[in-house]
Amino acid sequence: MTILIEQPDLGFQVQDKVTNDHTIHELVLDGGFAVSKPVPNAGFEAPEINSFGHSFRDYDAESERQKTVEEFYRLNHINQTYDFVKRMREEYGKLDKVEMSIWECCELLNDVVDDSDPDLDEPQIEHLLQTAEAIRKDFPNEDWLHLTALIHDLGKVLLHPSFGGLPQWAVVGDTFPLGCAFDESIVHHKYLKENPDSKNPAFKTKNGIYAEGCGLNNVMISWGHDDYMYLVAKENGTTLPSAALFVIRYHSFYPLHKSGAYKHLMNEEDVENLKWLKIFNKYDLYSKSKVRIDVEKVKPYYLSLIDKYFPTKLRW
Ligand SMILES: [Fe+2]
Ligand SMILES: [Fe+2]
Repeated sequence: MTILIEQPDLGFQVQDKVTNDHTIHELVLDGGFAVSKPVPNAGFEAPEINSFGHSFRDYDAESERQKTVEEFYRLNHINQTYDFVKRMREEYGKLDKVEMSIWECCELLNDVVDDSDPDLDEPQIEHLLQTAEAIRKDFPNEDWLHLTALIHDLGKVLLHPSFGGLPQWAVVGDTFPLGCAFDESIVHHKYLKENPDSKNPAFKTKNGIYAEGCGLNNVMISWGHDDYMYLVAKENGTTLPSAALFVIRYHSFYPLHKSGAYKHLMNEEDVENLKWLKIFNKYDLYSKSKVRIDVEKVKPYYLSLIDKYFPTKLRW
């Protein structure tokens, strides 16, 4: 792995109360709802409780954690503005931070992300492989989907010092569109009142600056690991299909895939791709269980997929 540059100047303070609190983690931050019943799919058996005996995404399990998550979303909702996202896309779209392979990034993610996810006490690479292996079992012929599962969270390397060490609110959590009205279904919607964009008249209507049916590709979505990994995959010339890029880019966009909001901005291709995202999301949630994966055993298969769909070294 080659580290190419020092920390970029992003014009904001990366240290704050919440980013230093290692009790927050992705699963709580990815949606803000408790999953009561697993949805059966193609024989996939979803466990009803996580490693710690709580329901998945159960907010009442620890009310202290809930407060921390709420504070996370307060910061997220205040700081994720249209201009902020534009700046981040420009900065990180340069892909001048690091050069490494997909597998090297999987290993790097193990160091980056803490182990305090309430649903996860295994290294991140095991979550990635658990998701991928669960999908592989039910969709053996969709090898692109296996690889998509493996790489979907790699954008979390944005938390790493060599990527500027972004605060949690700029990397994880549910995502939502900027440039149009904030939908009520966005988790902790009330804090969006403090977002400077809510004072911009152009952003206040249902369509805002967009045309109905313009396609999500033309819509600015709050910045995080989803959009970053999409940029990395696309700019490095991946041959993964459009559904794969859609899954990577919108897997934290819960207002869309859980609540059905913002559908008026989708085009036909989005509608098709959303079907795959809904399938993927079940595995992303439920695969965080005690199923241990023998990394060395499955590694050759995933290396062959990486080789099929990506160049050896990628710019990040
Ligand atoms: Fe994610
Ligand atoms: Fe995930």
